[in-house]
Formats: sequence, C-alpha cells, structure tokens
Amino acid sequence: MRIEHLRYLACPKCRSPFEIVDSHPDTDGRIESGTLQCTGCQVQYPIVRFIPRFVSRDNYATTFGYQWTIHAQTQYDSHNGTQISETRFFNETKWPRQLEGQTVLEVGSGSGRFTEQAVSTGAFVVSLDYSFAVDANYASNGHHPNLLIVQASIYEMPFALNFFDKVICIGVLQHTPDVRRSFMDLIPYLKRGGSLVVDVYLRETGWFGSIKQAIKVKYWVRPFTRRIAPERLYKAIVRYVNGIWPLTTLISQIPRIGRKINFALLLVADYRGAYPLSEQQLKEWAILDTFDMLSPAYDTPQSVGTLQQWFTEAGMTQIEVHRGYNGVEGRGVKG
Ligand SMILES: C[S@@+](CC[C@H](N)C(=O)[O-])C[C@H]1O[C@@H](n2cnc3c(N)ncnc32)[C@H](O)[C@@H]1O
Repeated sequence: MRIEHLRYLACPKCRSPFEIVDSHPDTDGRIESGTLQCTGCQVQYPIVRFIPRFVSRDNYATTFGYQWTIHAQTQYDSHNGTQISETRFFNETKWPRQLEGQTVLEVGSGSGRFTEQAVSTGAFVVSLDYSFAVDANYASNGHHPNLLIVQASIYEMPFALNFFDKVICIGVLQHTPDVRRSFMDLIPYLKRGGSLVVDVYLRETGWFGSIKQAIKVKYWVRPFTRRIAPERLYKAIVRYVNGIWPLTTLISQIPRIGRKINFALLLVADYRGAYPLSEQQLKEWAILDTFDMLSPAYDTPQSVGTLQQWFTEAGMTQIEVHRGYNGVEGRGVKG
C-alpha cells in the first residue's frame, strides 16, 4: 500500500480513519511493512509485504491461499492468451468498460484474475481476500497505481460505510460459513445507487433438481477430502487427473452430457469445447478446479429463489437474478 491509500481504509471496529505509526517504504514509496493505527479506538494492524492485514495469515480459507499460490496466473487472460476472464467479468457485471473516477470493491479476489479486469476500467479498485492468496494477487497486479489489496474477511471489512460505487463478489459466497450473512454484509459498504454483483453455486430445486443435486459426487466425498492437508490432497489430485485424463477425453465426446459426467461423477473439471485452451492448459485448469471442488472448508450452494429473496430483503432495486456463471448470478442497485 501507499500512504495515499489511507483514504480507502477505515477501522473495522469503529470506522474511524487510520494513521500509519510506523512504516518502512521501499525506494518507490510503497509501504513494505509498518503499522496502521485507528485514530479512534487505537487498534493496530500490521502491513506485511505491502499488504495491510486485518486477519491472521492462516484461517479456514488457507486451502485457497495454497491453490492460488500454485495457480497464481493459470486463469489470467494475460497469462493464458484468452479472453475468458474478461468476457465473464463484463458479461456478469454488465458494467461499462470505462469507470474512471469510481471506486470498486472486489471481495474474495483469489489470485486476482478479475482484479486484472477491474483495474483495466480505470476505477480505483480495492481487492480483499481472507486468505494469503492476496500475496499472489499482489505479485501479479501490485504494480497498478489504481489498486489497493488487503487481507481481511467479508465479515469485518476495513472500509467506511456507504463508500463504494460498485461491489463485486464472485466465486466466493458459497465458500463462507454463513452465506446469507456474507451477502448481507456486502450491502453497507455500497453507496446509495451503487451496483452490486454476486454469484453463488446453484442448489437445484424441485424433484428432478433434487436428484441432480444428489448425484453430484463432490458432496459425498468433500466431508473426507476437505480434512486432508492441502499439500497431500493436491498431490493426490494431480495423480488422479493425470491417470483418468484419457478416460475423460473419451467421455467428453458424448454429445451434450460428456463434460457434465466428467464434472459431476468423475470430479474432473472439464472445459474441453467450452474454453479455447490447449491440452496442457485444460489439464492445468482441471487440476486447479478439481482441487477447488474438494478442498474448501465450506461449499453451500443456493437456489435462484433464495438469492432473489436476499436481494429483495436487502432493499435492492433493479434486481436481476438468474442462472449463469458459477450457478446463480445476481445484480442489483442499492436503493
Ligand atoms: C473460489 S475463490 C474465487 C476467487 C476469485 N473471485 C475468482 O473467481 O477467481 C474463493 C475466494 O473466496 C475467499 N474467501 C473465502 N471466505 C472469505 C471471507 N470470509 N472473506 C473474504 N474472502 C473469503 C477465499 O480465500 C478464496 O480466495
């Protein structure tokens, strides 16, 4: 962070501004290490490797820190030569390509594939994640002058209320312990008239939906796999995906349902035909997303109706909730 970034932060306890009471800047003026102190309640937080930290390094999201350190750039468009993240970011947000003068809060940024898209708009972007994936994000995106990265939780964010023009939280809600509360906790940080974009894994409903939900093998095996140390689980997944790859190649040729079988029954995240990736990249994405299915502490999908109801209860207007990227996506404007 830089000293001028203080204006984007506020004490998560009492909302007073911070001051920097001790700082070790690098030659470029970036604060490599130091201490933030609340001017109200005096609580202090460290700045470590250029990032203000409001939570401990390790927590329930440590598996994400692990996966995004290994796959720091796997899903970056600038790394894989595609427009996959760009297309999803702008399709899902429906935001204009130019957002100069606006402030955007990204909650649950992971490795920062969407941070890269958000900063491209010219907005000032504050990207937050609970895990040490923030270090991977900083390594890739930290050079952007319009970006501040912080390690903090959705449940106690270090910002002023009614501050941001836009809030985005994609790929995250289902991985938090209380999905409804996580959704509701985003709203206070938005200005009136500000735009919120979220998505969440889909929980199928109805009798046919319940059958489809029940045969998702990941929910049978997660109670075991999420308890395995990330290093061990990752190694096992690399072996599994490499071993079963020829079979998934055959199955993926079954029209319409081949990839679904690979995803739901064989637990191999199969993007053949969906994304323009090389064979090597497809396997890398499969390993990443199979780990992403089996390792997180929490995975609680939601129905379209539930997300719709939350937007309404939160007093949002211009609500759009439907099936989409990641399962269910929702947009609304703070009323
Ligand atoms: C599947 S990743 C999605 C990352 C990124 N949005 C993307 O789509 O590539 C989910 C992220 O949510 C973060 N997360 C989980 N619980 C969180 C919390 N309480 N506060 C903030 N971030 C959280 C994890 O650390 C992880 O990086």
